[in-house]
Amino acid sequence: MTTTTGNVTHFTTVDGAPDASWFIDFMDVANALPEYRRIRQTLADQLGDLNGKSVLDVGCGTGDDARELAALVGADGKVVGTDLSGAMIEEARRRGGGAALPVEFRTADAGGLAFADGAFDAARAKLVLMHCADIETAAAELLRVVRPGGRIAVFDYDFETTTVDHPDVSATREVVRCCADGHGNKWSGRQLARRFLDLGAREVSVTPHTVVMPLAFFRRSVGGRLAAAQADGKLAMTAPQLDAWWQTLAEADAGGRFFASLTGFALGATR
Ligand SMILES: C[S@@+](CC[C@H](N)C(=O)[O-])C[C@H]1O[C@@H](n2cnc3c(N)ncnc32)[C@H](O)[C@@H]1O
Repeated sequence: MTTTTGNVTHFTTVDGAPDASWFIDFMDVANALPEYRRIRQTLADQLGDLNGKSVLDVGCGTGDDARELAALVGADGKVVGTDLSGAMIEEARRRGGGAALPVEFRTADAGGLAFADGAFDAARAKLVLMHCADIETAAAELLRVVRPGGRIAVFDYDFETTTVDHPDVSATREVVRCCADGHGNKWSGRQLARRFLDLGAREVSVTPHTVVMPLAFFRRSVGGRLAAAQADGKLAMTAPQLDAWWQTLAEADAGGRFFASLTGFALGATR
């Protein structure tokens, strides 16, 4: 079942997947959650007045956020969305087809942006740095392409902040540990401020956002990688124990009592 077999830790290799649609669908479901609208608003607020400005959206995915930004920059501004994945850029261009917005999409690795120093008034990266193998270089690139005095905005999760209401506390702790440890940058959220301060950013602030996850989205987020971790011996549970753990959550959900959340951090900073 596609909703449980995908793996969000593979967002850095979307083009290597047999079908990119799992990743596209995943982002569409995520971006429709109520807290995601508030995250986009926080990031936009961090960038300030964008009218007439040039804005870069690194790791733009399907380009929906870049199009929102394009409406803010107006006819005198421009937005460039970049993504490592050709499939994502293809989808972004398809969705943008015919729209009279000042936005363009290009394939680019966040770790090596082909833009001059200070090329943009502002740059943002939502749910991208946490996927980058070399997060230090990607963060430095984000800052480099913004002009001195320009703004950056970044949102990343902190995967050790997962909460799940489940009667089996020790199994749930093991699930949370396993999910966090499956991410190369599992603490990216809590590290954002320190990382950008070390790079010389000024006026750094951080706003937390806790996303309450419906069971279907929670399962879509972690179901595939928990199953893979269990099969690889990286989860201290048997397959029947893992199935029973999910079954308890399904029963809680049927009774309107499922609760899970994940907290991320939105950074705003001045170059
Ligand atoms: C979780 S999605 C977020 C997409 C979009 N920012 C959003 O919030 O809807 C992560 C995106 O980062 C892209 N990505 C992963 N590694 C990247 C890298 N090294 N450079 C640029 N993009 C990358 C993926 O292809 C994917 O589109």
